[in-house]
Amino acid sequence: MKILITGGAGFIGSNLALKLIEKGHSVSVLDNLSPQIHGENPLESKLYLSIKDKVNFIIGDILDENIWDIAIGDNEVIIHLAAETGTGQSMYNIEKYSLVNIHGTSLMLDYLTNVKHKVLKIVVASSRAIYGEGKYLHPKFGEVYPSPRAENDMLSKQFEPFYKDKEKLVLVGTDELSKIHPSSFYGLTKQFQEQMIMTICPSLGITPVAFRYQNVYGPGQSLSNPYTGILSIFSTQIRNNNSINIFEDGLESRDFVYIDDVVEATILGIEKNEANNQVFNVGTGVAINVLNVAQTLKDCFKSKTEINITGQFRIGDIRHNFADLTKIKDKLNFNPKITFQVGIKKFVDWVLEQEISNDLYAKSVEELKAKGLLK
Ligand SMILES: NC(=O)c1ccc[n+]([C@@H]2O[C@H](COP(=O)([O-])OP(=O)(O)OC[C@H]3O[C@@H](n4cnc5c(N)ncnc54)[C@H](O)[C@@H]3O)[C@@H](O)[C@H]2O)c1
Repeated sequence: MKILITGGAGFIGSNLALKLIEKGHSVSVLDNLSPQIHGENPLESKLYLSIKDKVNFIIGDILDENIWDIAIGDNEVIIHLAAETGTGQSMYNIEKYSLVNIHGTSLMLDYLTNVKHKVLKIVVASSRAIYGEGKYLHPKFGEVYPSPRAENDMLSKQFEPFYKDKEKLVLVGTDELSKIHPSSFYGLTKQFQEQMIMTICPSLGITPVAFRYQNVYGPGQSLSNPYTGILSIFSTQIRNNNSINIFEDGLESRDFVYIDDVVEATILGIEKNEANNQVFNVGTGVAINVLNVAQTLKDCFKSKTEINITGQFRIGDIRHNFADLTKIKDKLNFNPKITFQVGIKKFVDWVLEQEISNDLYAKSVEELKAKGLLK
């Protein structure tokens, strides 16, 4: 098949492009080589160099309405990954996030509405961020979806969420029918992006599929971007011999899914008819806390870096979320293969082959503080 990947020079896109080529597909990539991901000399970016001679590479911005004609050409599938992706950063860069993630998607859909094309399917990268806080069981009320945590609770180190009263909640996996209530602007833009694709595509005769990825990690992840990806942020801190500062009490958790599993799920979305018109969670179904991540990385790097639990917290952060994978297992026969213990070792082996990036994390934290978004 002829496949266009927007944002195809990024972490997920570049890995996906290489796999699709291996499977015999013909791949075009539209990417503006954003400096936040690819550095100040993007033409030397390793991710770009890893695919540039293997794909039809179009350097361009999804916000340029003239680029869509060149990029879509005679492609039959679009995998729409181009996006601004930092949860914290989205809270003070509202216009940029809205433009790229929402307006950029509008331009693609407008093109498809108005111009003759061959596109049969669009796969969109949605996110677990659209769920906001995870799903919990309350002893009296059953399934509940707590609202964003109150600042006063967090200031008094009460980080676990509550629902109505002070009863202890039990965390359960978030399934695709769980409440959508994003707590960051990034999450809102991903919600809107997903719904735009799922709503508009059928009216254009195009089949939509959405994947709500959990926290993806692995080789190819930007090690210099301080705005997203805690495994790369911690790794860069460790390699610079800087201490790791962990927010809250370190027990906040996420579902970390290895890149190869994400690539496999996404390809099933292209190839299997059972995926058509559906949204799917992609994760491992296992919640891992942030302190465990830092400690495991420290052990893998055999580092003496200090881990400090700061008690600070970011406005807009959720406490826990992990995926319920029942739907993707049933419909697409997808089972994540790489456990966290195996994946983190593969990730560290790859990091050790890379140059040590400058640790820009303190700068990103200062930005949050200056905007009143870090307490
Ligand atoms: N990595 C994760 O953990 C994760 C989790 C959930 C969802 N997602 C979603 O998956 C997608 C890919 O994520 P990723 O981790 O590969 O991100 P990434 O930042 O590594 O890649 C995004 C790519 O998009 C490009 N891009 C950004 N703005 C663009 C624009 N205006 N025009 C053209 N290209 C542009 C960047 O240059 C980059 O190459 C995103 O939509 C993201 O929201 C990622």
